[in-house]
Amino acid sequence: MKNSKFHQLFIQELQDIYWAEKNLVKALPKMKRAATSTGLAEAIGSHLEETKEHVNRLEEVFELLGEKAQAKKCEAMEGLIAEGTSVVEDTESDTMVRDAGVIIASQKIEHYEIASYGSLVALAMKMEHNDAAKLLSKTLEEEKKADELLTQLAESEINEQAAQE
Ligand SMILES: [Fe+2]
Repeated sequence: MKNSKFHQLFIQELQDIYWAEKNLVKALPKMKRAATSTGLAEAIGSHLEETKEHVNRLEEVFELLGEKAQAKKCEAMEGLIAEGTSVVEDTESDTMVRDAGVIIASQKIEHYEIASYGSLVALAMKMEHNDAAKLLSKTLEEEKKADELLTQLAESEINEQAAQE
């Protein structure tokens, strides 16, 4: 199994999301500072803490598989982070329009992660790496919750206030 092409694909996908998570740890503080509402700043702040844990969990997964934790540049996440930066540049500070933009950028990021972890859980289960699957599922659930919280923030207040600016 370990040398199979399918196993190699699994490892490559792990390396991709590992790069993504490590770069999110660097990018999220900027997104947090850009947020106008405390609700959004807090949501990003707590997801930053979770993201650090996601990095640790991936390192555990590599260890369980007997692989070196190695990051492979994720072009998609690099692009998504760049979009987040440009939405901040293109909107005025202290506005809810900026918050609405930050939420959109953050949800694009979450959806990429949800797709990645969903696939990784499926592969881990198929290969009977059950402990790895458990760790990856835990992160998947946290990504889904973060995404739901962003939807709630947008729908309960931020979009309404942005519409009035
Ligand atoms: Fe994550």
